[in-house]
Amino acid sequence: MCGIVGYSGRAAAAPLVFAGLKRLEYRGYDSVGIATLDGNNIQIIKKQGKVSSLENFVDGLSGNTGIGHTRWATHGKPSDINAHPHACGKFAVVHNGIIENYAELKARYFPDISFTSRTDSEIIVRLLDKFYSGNLLQTLKEVSSLLKGSYAVLVICADFNGFAVMKYKSPVIIGGGRGESFAASDAPALAGLCKKISVLEDGDFAIVSAHRIKIYDNNLNPVVRQKIINHATAASLDLNGCAHYMQKEILENPTAVENTVKAFSRVQGKLKEVFTDINRVIITGCGTAYNSGLVAKRYIESFARIPAEAEIAGEFRYKNPVITSGTAVIAISQSGETADTVEAAKLAKSLGAKVIAVTNAPYSALTLISDVVVPVAAGHEICVAATKSYTGQIAALYLTAKLLASFNKKSAVRLMKNAKAEICSVVPLLKSTVAHTDIEALAQVCARADGVYFLGRDIDYAVALEGSLKLKEITYIQSEGYPAGELKHGTLALIDENKTAVVIITDEGLSVKCENAVEQVLSRKGKVAVITNVKECAERLKDEVPVIEIPACPKELSPLLSAAAVQLLAYKTAIILDRNPDQPRNLAKSVTVE
Ligand code: M6R
Repeated sequence: MCGIVGYSGRAAAAPLVFAGLKRLEYRGYDSVGIATLDGNNIQIIKKQGKVSSLENFVDGLSGNTGIGHTRWATHGKPSDINAHPHACGKFAVVHNGIIENYAELKARYFPDISFTSRTDSEIIVRLLDKFYSGNLLQTLKEVSSLLKGSYAVLVICADFNGFAVMKYKSPVIIGGGRGESFAASDAPALAGLCKKISVLEDGDFAIVSAHRIKIYDNNLNPVVRQKIINHATAASLDLNGCAHYMQKEILENPTAVENTVKAFSRVQGKLKEVFTDINRVIITGCGTAYNSGLVAKRYIESFARIPAEAEIAGEFRYKNPVITSGTAVIAISQSGETADTVEAAKLAKSLGAKVIAVTNAPYSALTLISDVVVPVAAGHEICVAATKSYTGQIAALYLTAKLLASFNKKSAVRLMKNAKAEICSVVPLLKSTVAHTDIEALAQVCARADGVYFLGRDIDYAVALEGSLKLKEITYIQSEGYPAGELKHGTLALIDENKTAVVIITDEGLSVKCENAVEQVLSRKGKVAVITNVKECAERLKDEVPVIEIPACPKELSPLLSAAAVQLLAYKTAIILDRNPDQPRNLAKSVTVE
């Protein structure tokens, strides 16, 4: 959610900052801007629109230090004026996060000044200008002590040949070497530029110039932060011949699952320790991560017979949850940055729960507060719609539930070996699903529908919710995920010839009951398609409705295949409707504000 990039070195800053912003565009794409410092002259160019809107202006910015921003608007609509950087006096800043008390600060310190923009961020640069004493670090500290909310801020000051950083609750990484230094929101921005990156912690400041990076904690003591390898490379961010990242990432589902299984072994021991004496599990996350939590609830209850609940992270925080020392909270997040999930995990921890992070981001706000991190080894996911991270999460959660189930069993080692083998046996089926599922005809139907209902029972209902989220997110078609049996209790009233139902059926035992829902929709003139791996069901229905067959697999692992099918459906439908699946309107990846 908003991407920021900073550079100080020998090269012209603007093209490097621009290239970094392009690689961070998934974090927001409604406006873009760059400021450079040449001597003590600050130059700024900013525009409403995607990063490419600046393409023709980048060469006009001189200087070897620069900061840039690609925005997902929170306060103030997308416009040239509200785009970052914001400037005042000797300063220009870019900001990712929200300053919650900006109105209060404005009323207190600038009662008679009208600000240029409608953003919450402008207060930062106004305060820097007001409190500047000639000591940049001290001024940062003074200003940060006034701010409430979340911020990753890059600052250029006309008096300093470099840039400064302030970080609280929004991510910043820093890297450098050979006379060049960089900062950014996320590793892909520094792909091919820095092999090692330092991850700043909340309350940190940094003063960065071409040859020197100095990091300070909140008391302005110099600190050294953890250095990690930057796995993002130019090659890993390549589209590999695909038209969109979404297409590429759907094709990467099998690798994500396979690598996640391999990575699980690294944490199995630690996870076992954390799970000791656990008698209840709460699973939390947002969006797709919450949807994978719904599958995990079923895994934990059916394998380990331990009560499990799935809670939307933004709700969990405000419902005064019952947590005891026997509660484990599994917080799921692709980015590890989602503010609601991170805050839910913090709350759980403060109430005495064990916190298990299931994430694609091994060094993130979520991992810093967790007792153990279960890796999702899906690799960088660039498309705003989550795909391979979902199947990676399902694999990680399946193994987590199996581990819980193996407690106190003599056959624990064999059980875990079998569980890994079960998932690995589905990988070739997943490969075939992403490569060969013919979803085009159904996508044509969905593209013309007024509304699409995804229906299923039990684990298929969990996937139905994910199918619906994917479709609405990237096609803007009204969609709902519904338990197939619940249809007749109200939603059936909405069915007519312009509505489509996609019914997911992967459980032989529930197949006939789900087929009732098919008939109920058909009887109201609605259109129906079925995604199934139950042979008899396909046989019974194939003359009546389009049937998309996916491979047969162990029942609990069917979400790996049915999810891939609904991902493909959403993708193809978006293409038919000429939507950009990678950058859906109004959205951004990594929602770091509450
Ligand atoms: O990074 P996270 O997994 O915490 O993100 C949670 C949601 O914002 C995310 O899954 C969102 O729903 C996706 N765009 C859905 O495709």
